[in-house]
Amino acid sequence: MSAPARALELAGASVLVFEDAASACRHAADRIAGVIRDAVGLRGKAVLGLATGGTPIPIYDRLVALYQAGELSFADVSTYNLDEYYPIHPSDPNSYRAYMHRHLFGRVDIAPNRAHVLDGTVPDSFADAHAAEFDRWIAADGGLDLQLLGIGRNGHIGFNEPTNLPLETALNLPTRLVDLHPVTVADAAKDFGGESRVVPRALTVGVAPILAARSILILALGAGKAEAVTRALTGPMTPSLPASLLQSAPGRVTWMLDAAAARGLG
Ligand code: F6R
Repeated sequence: MSAPARALELAGASVLVFEDAASACRHAADRIAGVIRDAVGLRGKAVLGLATGGTPIPIYDRLVALYQAGELSFADVSTYNLDEYYPIHPSDPNSYRAYMHRHLFGRVDIAPNRAHVLDGTVPDSFADAHAAEFDRWIAADGGLDLQLLGIGRNGHIGFNEPTNLPLETALNLPTRLVDLHPVTVADAAKDFGGESRVVPRALTVGVAPILAARSILILALGAGKAEAVTRALTGPMTPSLPASLLQSAPGRVTWMLDAAAARGLG
């Protein structure tokens, strides 16, 4: 396994800095594979919270390679994705359901009724009920062994966007329907062919169920993430930078960074 160039302890988290993005992703995939093997060995199943976006694509490629080599099986794995645009059809190439099928679900032996993504087609008036049900599914499955996260340039985790809510309220946010932040819309514009075409709302797993995971692995790659990473790890815990809320889960959070994303950490 590619060793980290540096290992730090910051804000109650273990921070591993790798020379490049490929090493960070390889290490992350091997960590996830280890969690799957350990949980299946101990309890007969593994429950993962998964992310989409550009960052995890090489992670999924490596997990698929391990599966193809006969070194890893998803037969006893359940997954719960962090978010989905709303409304969106699952067959829309920009839906996170389609993304997950392309990058992981369609390439490994996971059962269709264990690979869960929030449903972008539920009626508006039932979106909150569907979100609450998703939290109940996770709890009924025994909770998450590992939550994989990326981080937005604005510090979002999932689509928990920056807010000025009181800290206690922000820490307890459940899975729900949200409006996307302007920075998130700007970053999604390349996928949708322009800002005006980005679906402006999303269903997101909340801060509370993320923080309830038994372990949390957050990846940040590239200089564009450096400011958010520095604030999340060296600044105060604040709802205006949702990734800083991970400070409330000391001992359960691992950050994997490339050198560019870590450049503000000294
Ligand atoms: C994706 C998600 C988002 C992304 C974040 C970073 O499911 O929840 O929080 O992790 O926007 O996206 P990338 O990896 O594209 O930079």
